[in-house]
Amino acid sequence: MRVLVTGGLGFIGSETVICLLNEGYEVTVVDALFNSKIAVLERIETITGKKPDFFQVDCCDYEAFKKVFETAKFDAAIHFAGLKAVGESVEKPIEYYENNLVSSINLVKLMKEYGVKNLIFSSSATVYGTPKRVPLVETDPVGHATNPYGETKIMIERILGDFQLANPDFNIALLRYFNPIGAHPSGLLGEDPNGIPNNLMPYISQVAIGKRDYLRVWGGDYPTPDGTGVRDYIHVVDLAEGHMATLKKLEDKPGLVVYNLGTGKGTSVLEAVSAYEKATGAKVPYKILERRSGDVAENYANCDKANTELKWHARFNVEDACRDAYNFQKKNPDGIK
Ligand code: WQD
Repeated sequence: MRVLVTGGLGFIGSETVICLLNEGYEVTVVDALFNSKIAVLERIETITGKKPDFFQVDCCDYEAFKKVFETAKFDAAIHFAGLKAVGESVEKPIEYYENNLVSSINLVKLMKEYGVKNLIFSSSATVYGTPKRVPLVETDPVGHATNPYGETKIMIERILGDFQLANPDFNIALLRYFNPIGAHPSGLLGEDPNGIPNNLMPYISQVAIGKRDYLRVWGGDYPTPDGTGVRDYIHVVDLAEGHMATLKKLEDKPGLVVYNLGTGKGTSVLEAVSAYEKATGAKVPYKILERRSGDVAENYANCDKANTELKWHARFNVEDACRDAYNFQKKNPDGIK
């Protein structure tokens, strides 16, 4: 079987490509290299001993994307490609709506034209907006996200839902990721943001190796046990394995399915700091500062549905992910070159 993976050189995409290759799938990666590096391709080959087909293509470029569909017969597609920085999306809403929506619409049009009937979409817990209660279940209302990035995920979920209704022979899975963290245990691949990390774990890792002085904790007065934000941190390898389980599920022709992919456990910022120090022996100094706009107090998943229907469970805990993230950061102090 051959799987088309858009954004396959990114943090989650590359881990998923590794799982696919290890399980014997043939893989075609499409990546525009906006937020990823070509060196990841070589590292995937080093880790798996196999090299996926690769096309440096922007999924918004219909004609270029169409050419990829001429290169092979695909049995399924996994769509990771998209802009994903929450803060940046507030500053550049049009770029986010255009890139994320057009790339997804192009993909679906080409899948229909070439008879590729299985799709996994990389969605996000942000589609739930500000949770009314936690843990979140898939039937909770998809509200208004607190930023354009999250709104694009809500819109694409709606587009895919309407498309599947009109094309019932298509099988589409919407995977709502909570907070992906960690790295490949080899330390060759991991979260490698450009510039100052927005996300918690890469920032902690840079403090841990001495690249930054201290962690800025955004808010210590939330209605949570220790006052800091609570999230569901899931190891990126667990997340990748969730995609493999979902691919198998699509073989049952389920139509449209939605799953939360998380650990089902909430971890506060200060608990994450302690876990990191315990797992690595590194020191992570921090200062508690004002809240970050757009943040919610708590956001973690109920994963019963994925556990039962996908026969998938997160195997790693936050300490495991901290250990792998630290290993990656030490081996790549200035990121992947
Ligand atoms: C986690 C917690 C912060 C940085 C976003 C997107 C989500 C996904 C993951 C793309 C919060 C606190 C953070 C820091 C801090 N993105 N924090 N100091 O905002 O939960 O989720 O990123 O796929 O879709 O919404 O993740 O890691 O930014 O924040 O105190 O320097 O850590 O306040 O409580 P978030 P995050």
